[in-house]
Amino acid sequence: MPNSLVEETKRIVAQFDYSDDDVNKGVREFLRQMNEGLQKDGTSISQIPTYVTGVPNGTEKGLYMAVDLGGTNFRVCSVHLNGDTTFNLTYSKVAIPKELMVAKTSKELFGFLAKQIEFFLKTHHEEHFEAHVRRRRSSKTAEGYEDENLFQLGFTFSFPVQQFGINKGSLIRWTKGFDIPDAVGKDVCALLQDEIDLLHLPVKVAALVNDTVGTLMARSYTSPGKTATLIGAIFGTGTNGAYVEKITNLQKSVDGVYDKSTGEMVINTEWGSFDNQLNVLPKTQFDATLDRESVNPGIQIFEKRVSGMFLGEIVRLAVVSLYENANVSLFKGVTSNTNGEQSTTHIGDDSGLFQQWGLDSSLMSVAVADDTPELSSLRQELDSQLKIRSASVEDAQAFKNIAHAVGRRAARLSAVALGSIVIQSGRLKETSDDLVDIGADGSLVEHYPFFRDMIYEALKAIEGIGPEGAERIRIGLATDGSGVGAALIALVAAGMEKKAI
Ligand code: BG6
Ligand code: GLC
Repeated sequence: MPNSLVEETKRIVAQFDYSDDDVNKGVREFLRQMNEGLQKDGTSISQIPTYVTGVPNGTEKGLYMAVDLGGTNFRVCSVHLNGDTTFNLTYSKVAIPKELMVAKTSKELFGFLAKQIEFFLKTHHEEHFEAHVRRRRSSKTAEGYEDENLFQLGFTFSFPVQQFGINKGSLIRWTKGFDIPDAVGKDVCALLQDEIDLLHLPVKVAALVNDTVGTLMARSYTSPGKTATLIGAIFGTGTNGAYVEKITNLQKSVDGVYDKSTGEMVINTEWGSFDNQLNVLPKTQFDATLDRESVNPGIQIFEKRVSGMFLGEIVRLAVVSLYENANVSLFKGVTSNTNGEQSTTHIGDDSGLFQQWGLDSSLMSVAVADDTPELSSLRQELDSQLKIRSASVEDAQAFKNIAHAVGRRAARLSAVALGSIVIQSGRLKETSDDLVDIGADGSLVEHYPFFRDMIYEALKAIEGIGPEGAERIRIGLATDGSGVGAALIALVAAGMEKKAI
């Protein structure tokens, strides 16, 4: 690499350093903000009570439906829980059309979701569907109408919702690029049920579930036993975590019915908004630009440094700053191929490098996974994804170093959130040497090379955890877990209401 490129890349990379001291400072602030969220509403970390007061033990049985509105896809599934920690899942998945994420009215989005449910039922549960539609058509009124064919549905809605009960809750704010103002403050279960009823579908929205809560439930169902799962975490398009908290620590008022007998409740932290006030989070010029140009400046500040939707954009902004630096030659040089032929780098006019959100975070995974001396896969992807023709090895190396620095900072920040919750739970202090189990899902933790290893490395540095504590923390993948988790919550919803005091 020409010297100035090496030096300038190092300068940028250094801005993404997140030292052990920073990690510990982050943990102290995270614990403070978590506890503040348990005391009152309107705090940075929302600490939303979910009304879920127990985790499954693997013996649950039955056929349930679940739908899952994540950040990128909408999934519809039916889940047969076999009662022996296993389940059979039938599912379909569609990408959420971009225009519906910013639709004029919420009816457009929820109408689309109901249509997908109808299509799924017709395709996979035709008998169920036909029997119901026949009965409903022959019934004069819907009043008091009972139907044994009614599917209980768990609705995974991966956005911050203030819950009022197991199947009631109003949207606090949109995240992950969604922006449909008229939905804010409305009960999202009612919005979905209304559209389902308009299509006369045999489906009752029985439970409202954040994807993190679903992940926690699914992980508990599939790995029960001595090691109860503490946290369900998503590191995907967005990032968030839910955990099991002692009800006595939950000082703010919780209206609505729930079973108090377990002494615990699952809390949806909405940690994506940790430290919106920027007390301790790193703040490079690239973070600031990304936030300023996003649809929700000033919020989801932690998420904007950690999750898949944003990491590619941070890398893009950093790489563009290098490209625009007059002292540096990046993507502008002359390259020789193996036959000794020379070509000049050319960047296509439609290159994502110069467009907001134009660099997909998956390119970072390619960059850090490419260990070949020629960085051939990365250079090929720079060409096919970003229309950067004939990038040199030096160019690709600079890109790789920046991608690695941004990914590593994200993993170490993730450790701040996970480590703080482990400390808050007190489980490492318990005399037994049981593992503390964490279920994780999302494209980042699943596909970004060594993401979990980098989290473990930072966990070891946390005061109150250390290398021995980190050995006792197990982060396991709960891939596609939240659909199963939502079905489990639909199952226990009825039981919980009966037991409520
Ligand atoms: C899926 C879950 O597996 O992971 C969703 O079913 C969740 O509920 C998603 O939102 C998160 O991953 P990504 O990468 O799609 O945001
Ligand atoms: C965003 C949402 C949150 C969700 C997370 C992961 O942070 O606000 O509810 O759990 O993304 O999908």
